[in-house]
Amino acid sequence: MFNRVAVSGLGGILRPTIHRTWKPLPCSVCLAKRWSSVCSERKYFITTPIFYVNAQPHIGHLHSALLADASHRFQFLKYKNGLKKTLFSTGTDEHGLKVQQSAANKGVHPLEFCNEISQKFRNLFDAANIGYTHYVRTVEERHVNAVHHFFQTIVDRGHIYQGAYSGWYCISDEAYLTDVQVKEITLQSGIKQFISIESGHPVEWNSEENYMFRLSGFQEDLKYWLKDDCRVQPKRFLEELRKWLEDDLKDLSVSRPKDRVSWGISVPNDENHNIYVWVDALVNYLTVAGFPNLTSWPPDVQVLGKDILRFHGIYWPALLMAADLEPPNKLLCHSHWTVDGQKMSKSIGNIVCPYNCIEAYSSDGLRYFLLREGTPHSDNNWSDVRVARLLNAELANSLGNLLNRCTAPSLNPSQEFPSLNLQYLQNMSAAGKELIELVHNLPKEVENHYDNFNFYRAVDVIMTVVHSANNFVQEEKPWELKTLTDRTKLDSILRITLETVRVVGIALLPITPILANKLLNSIGVMQQNRYWECIENVFSKANEKYLSSSFKLGSRTKLFTKLKV
Ligand code: ME8
Ligand code: MG
Repeated sequence: MFNRVAVSGLGGILRPTIHRTWKPLPCSVCLAKRWSSVCSERKYFITTPIFYVNAQPHIGHLHSALLADASHRFQFLKYKNGLKKTLFSTGTDEHGLKVQQSAANKGVHPLEFCNEISQKFRNLFDAANIGYTHYVRTVEERHVNAVHHFFQTIVDRGHIYQGAYSGWYCISDEAYLTDVQVKEITLQSGIKQFISIESGHPVEWNSEENYMFRLSGFQEDLKYWLKDDCRVQPKRFLEELRKWLEDDLKDLSVSRPKDRVSWGISVPNDENHNIYVWVDALVNYLTVAGFPNLTSWPPDVQVLGKDILRFHGIYWPALLMAADLEPPNKLLCHSHWTVDGQKMSKSIGNIVCPYNCIEAYSSDGLRYFLLREGTPHSDNNWSDVRVARLLNAELANSLGNLLNRCTAPSLNPSQEFPSLNLQYLQNMSAAGKELIELVHNLPKEVENHYDNFNFYRAVDVIMTVVHSANNFVQEEKPWELKTLTDRTKLDSILRITLETVRVVGIALLPITPILANKLLNSIGVMQQNRYWECIENVFSKANEKYLSSSFKLGSRTKLFTKLKV
């Protein structure tokens, strides 16, 4: 039976009033402008989903973490010391039926099971240089307190009622589905089975008494929140959410009887019910911000995969509004890595192991591939051959050779950034002019792509510059000039090439931090000169003095070892 004390004052009759204290920003106001005009202190708050611990991490999870990491790293590059505080959270989602069953199958206590797998996620993120500032586990006491407080808040504000609930439950997705979201299939064994149309996972019919969240009351507020075209990126996912909101929203069941789901956080003052794992999980974003004593809110960006768009784009903002908290400023939704055209998933078992990849390709090799090839708007297919070909072509050959060319002792015996002759600069060949122009445009273009989470496009711009620089060297043939006593032209060619390498190295810091730092070390760029402003207007008149002075290189290094294909 329900403990009615927990929801005293509610009867499901009165529709509560929603106090809207949050105000969406007009879409023309970008994050950067908002910070500088509203906050005296520049902050950045970005999150990844917290991952289920029912099985090992795979490259799909790493991909979400990488998008957040690259964006977080870019903030430091761009705002230098002006960035007062950042919060970059990730972690693991450890309650619910799915985890309970996985632990039972292994014959271990759920907590023991969770400890082991949560640590694996953490190890992976550390191995891949994910610079999170907060790692949250839903079994932590601070999180349990936050969830209790949150649940009680929405109860107190009149958004919860008791109800009988029946529907198709999908354990793998930890979600109730409606009739239109399921279909019946015949298994090879001849047995008929209902499955989720979206995820393909089996569903079962369940009837139970639950606490219900009055989601239906937030339909208009959600539409209003989603009016802003920048709210969800890429646009196709925003449109998907808007489309879902054309149909009437149904209330959401937010508890499970403990006799079915014992591994979870109790409904406050109720011995018999646990809070629905998705409500528990979503509150992690509040936990990391110190809820109920929030230090930063709302998040600037929340990264998620398209499989959990409904939870983050509908349930989550509605729950926050119910608690009188601001919904997130932006959702960055990305598509999936597939294997042979099928979503890579723990439940299907077709996963690409990120540890093996790091061993084979190095952490930066894997980071480069995932960010270079992972387009947020469409699925990407994994192929080992493709990884090796791409890394060899771009990191070992194009970038590695460019670095070698301008640091080779035969061409650059004094091992320095030699001075640039300004007359040479003014009378350059077509290849030289093209390169100067591309280097000049790079910071603005790449910044724009980073700001919009289009890392694949940023890398594309960077690689175009690398190719143009190789082309420039090829045309100028510096090796033919090394016997001349006058080094003016040779030095100028080297300086232009080295400046390009420096710009490229700094621009790559968010994508491949180890490799980019190695590159910058090898050409002697000091730590305090590794910021975005250091690559702006490199060849402009204002930089004449800098370009005519010379600097020592660091020690030569091999950037990336070629992989066997
Ligand atoms: O859904 N390609 O956890 P989860 C790209 N605990 N990204 C992928 C992917 C793939 N093939 N597979 C998974 C949950 N991901 C909940 C989240 S948040 C409050 C709770 C990434 O372990 C992607 O970000 O199933 C996806 O949304 C997430 O992992 C799902 O991880
Ligand atoms: Mg999943």
